[in-house]
This record gives sequence, C-alpha cells and structure tokens, in this order.
Amino acid sequence: MTHSPTGSPDDFWQGRTFDDFLLRPQKGRADSRRNIELSSKLAEDVGIELPIISANMDSVTGYRMAQAMALEGGLGVVHRASSIERQVERIRLVKRSRSAVIEHPLCIPLGTTIGQARAFAHKNNVTGILVVGRGDESNILHGLLSSRDMPWSEDDDGKVVDEFMTPYERVVTGKPTISMDEAARLMFEKRVERLPVVDESRRVHGLITRKDIRFFRERPLASKDSKGRLRVGAAVGVRGDYLERAAAVCEAGADCLFVDIAHGHSAVMEEAVGRLRRDLGQVPLICGNVATGEGARFMKDIGADGIKVGVGPGSGCRTRLETAAGVPQLQAIREAYLAVGDEVPLVADGGIRYDKDMFLALVCGASTVMLGGALSGTEEAPGRVIEDPATGQKRKIYRGMTSPQAVYEALYDDDENSALESALLTPAEGQEVQVPFKGSVGGILHRIRGHLQSSVSYVGEVSLEEARKKILPNPERFLIPLSEPSRRESFER
Ligand code: XMP
Repeated sequence: MTHSPTGSPDDFWQGRTFDDFLLRPQKGRADSRRNIELSSKLAEDVGIELPIISANMDSVTGYRMAQAMALEGGLGVVHRASSIERQVERIRLVKRSRSAVIEHPLCIPLGTTIGQARAFAHKNNVTGILVVGRGDESNILHGLLSSRDMPWSEDDDGKVVDEFMTPYERVVTGKPTISMDEAARLMFEKRVERLPVVDESRRVHGLITRKDIRFFRERPLASKDSKGRLRVGAAVGVRGDYLERAAAVCEAGADCLFVDIAHGHSAVMEEAVGRLRRDLGQVPLICGNVATGEGARFMKDIGADGIKVGVGPGSGCRTRLETAAGVPQLQAIREAYLAVGDEVPLVADGGIRYDKDMFLALVCGASTVMLGGALSGTEEAPGRVIEDPATGQKRKIYRGMTSPQAVYEALYDDDENSALESALLTPAEGQEVQVPFKGSVGGILHRIRGHLQSSVSYVGEVSLEEARKKILPNPERFLIPLSEPSRRESFER
C-alpha cells in the first residue's frame, strides 16, 4: 500500500480529483445489479442503507428534503441558518412524520368544540385525534375522534367532541407491550385504522396507525432510529448559541450533530467538541471540514465520530478562488483515509458532479458522500420555483452558505444570531446560482442508487462493502490515471 507514515499521499494522488481517473473493470459476479447492497456507516453506531447525505445548506436541506432523504435510506442534515426554534421545528416535523409507534400522539381534552378540533386536525395534518381528560386526567384516554366522526355541517361547530367521538369502551386498543405484528393483526381483524396504546389505567402510551405499518413494510431501507422514526441530522456551529442550539435539536430528536465550520482543523473546533461532549454525552458528532491527513488526525484525536472532508470543492463555493486554500477533493479524501483508516468514517463533502464521482470517493476512503448542488433545484429543496416568462424554463436558487444572500437572509430570520453577524464581517466565499428545476429528489436518488450498484458490479463485487474492502487498501491497483485525450474520450459528449 502507498501508505506514507505522515498520512500524506505519494505522487500518485498529488493534485488529483475525480476526473483524473477511471476504474479498471473486474470480472463480474453479481447475479443482478439491483440486489447489490450499498449500506455503509456515518459513524461507528450509525449505519445507513444509501451512503448519501444532503448538505446542511439553506437551499438544500429543510424538513421536506430531510424527510425524503431518510425515506430513501440516506440522511438529511437540517441547516443552521435560522433561529433555534425554526431548526427545532424542522427536526420535529421529520421525527413526527413517520414512526412505528407515535410516542406522543396529538390529543385534545374533553369539552373541545368541533370547530376547534377541526382547526387542530387541519393545522397538524391528522385525520384521527385522541380525546383525553382534563387537568390531572390529561393522559387518560376517553375516546377517539376520527374524520369519519366529524359532523359535516359547520352548524355543529359549537358542539363538543364528547358527543361525536367513539367512546373509550368501543375503541380498539393495544397494550404497551404489543408487537408490530400483533398490532397489524388486531387492526386488520377489527378493521380499524388506528390503535391507541394504553395501559390498564387507560393512560396513553402511544398510537399505532395502519399507514405507518404499511409504510414500514413497503420501505425496509428507510433510515430509522430505534423507535422506528425517520433519522435526521442537525448542523451546529462552534460559536455563539451553539451549545443551546445543540441541546435543543437533540431534545427534538436529532440523531447526530454535524459540527460544521469552513476550517475545522482549528482550536475553536477542539473547544466546541469538548463542550458538546460534556453537555450531550455520546450523541454522534460528525465534525468538519478538513482537507488534509493532519486535519483528519486532529479530528480523530479530539473525539469526532465522523469527519467531513472537503475544503473548497463545492459547486456554490469560492474559497479556492478567493483564498487559494484547498486540496483537490480525491487527494483530500485519500489523505484523510490514510491518516485515520477505518477508525473514523469519512463524509466526502462537495465537488460531486457526476454519479461516478461518488463511487470514486467511496472506494478511495469515504464512507458516505454529501451532496449540495446535485440535490438542489428539486421539489424538496427549500425555496420557490422561478419560471422564466419568456422561455417557460423552471429554476430554483442554489447558493453557498457564505454567499452574501444566504448570510443576509439568515440574519433576517434571527437577528439575535451573533455567529452569523460575525460571518457578515468576513468577505463572502460562496455564490448564488440558478439551477434548473429537477422534479422530485426521489428520482435522483433512484438514479444514484442504480449507478452505484452498477459501479460495484463493474469492479466485480456484490456489495459496496465488498468493493471498498477490495479497493481501499490499494486503489492504485484499480485506478487508471487519465491523459488529456483519454479524459476527453471519457467525459466529453
Ligand atoms: P456541492 O459541490 O455538492 O458542495 O454543491 C456542497 C458543499 O459545499 C460546501 N459549501 C460551501 N463552501 N463556501 C464554501 O467554501 C460556501 O459558501 C459554501 N456553502 C456550502 C459545503 O461543504 C457543502 O456541503
């Protein structure tokens, strides 16, 4: 292996990035590409079925993107360019959107009017509400009000839900120990859509819905936590309100924190990681960004559970142009891998232009890949679709997080955000661009999955894990450095 003791790469990697190589095809042995598994790790205890992460950028990952990413087996990292409350709200929405057992189902007390119940159902986008007692009895189930029970006429809006709900005696319920299979059987036998989970004192422990059971059967690859809720990451910084923010997003259910600053190999990062550990214990901390072996080793030493690699390759990024700082992305990934090996998983962040780039990143050192531009412009990315009245072309905005527009907007969102205010004092290292509207992100992830599966098959393996095991120790055996004509032959169409 070309493994130098300093963790710096030899000439083979110097100045190299994705378009510098092709992979030599190997004898195939997969029966069908579609069965090829792509599971990987974000941190030691955080597995992921599709090794794709959506970037913590305000034009990429809000609630809808994070939800879609987890549904497809990847992960979304909700950006931090907002008030703590808004970030928390987005995390909560993802966590509530799907779960095996809804732990804190929405409830209304006896005596609520039909008008209020209607507004409550509409606001929370639910079709069934548990009716509980008042005061000390607010955890005791009294009935179930489903959309079928609601009177049609608005003349009844002043009446109380007690008159229309299915009373407790007729509600089908499950015990707190009920398994998913038992719940499914019971709900089918009794032909009900919802199963409140209650103990012998009628105290509410949760709610199981048919929709969620169906979903979990149909989407075995979705990224779920131990309670069956969708997984989501949250970005935090290292200055200002970061400790408060980190505590709040973890409380809301974030599964891991992305401690994310432009120059992660720094004293402020070390201090922040120490404090986050002290306050939050074992929550996985994915820290970045770094672009060198020294930077990766530093992250490992300060206790990062995952390391984000990439300085300046991003498509909305001007760091290299403005500061000359950066390392070609494939070289950076390899350097970081040689420095920390398999001990701390790496996220390759930025610079992915084609699907083949992801596979190269994964077999040269990264465990997962973070995408910004590639997922921008989709329906699920935050922001409106802009339609050009002359051509009818639809577009959305994609922008670097230190673009002037992103910084100003974050300040409008939260004028208390001192970290962002100080960012304003630093000249911009990001830019804003318009990208074509691309439809749903599901289609893009489906394409990426297919291409990664094909790449695994071309290198003669049956899973991404096997392909990484084969290539990672010595990629030089498999990579073909390209001349300018062979690059033209490969990539110019
Ligand atoms: P791609 O190439 O996928 O890159 O669009 C996404 C990554 O770009 C980084 N990023 C920035 N880098 N200035 C930078 O130097 C910025 O304003 C900026 N905004 C985002 C970030 O690492 C992201 O995941």
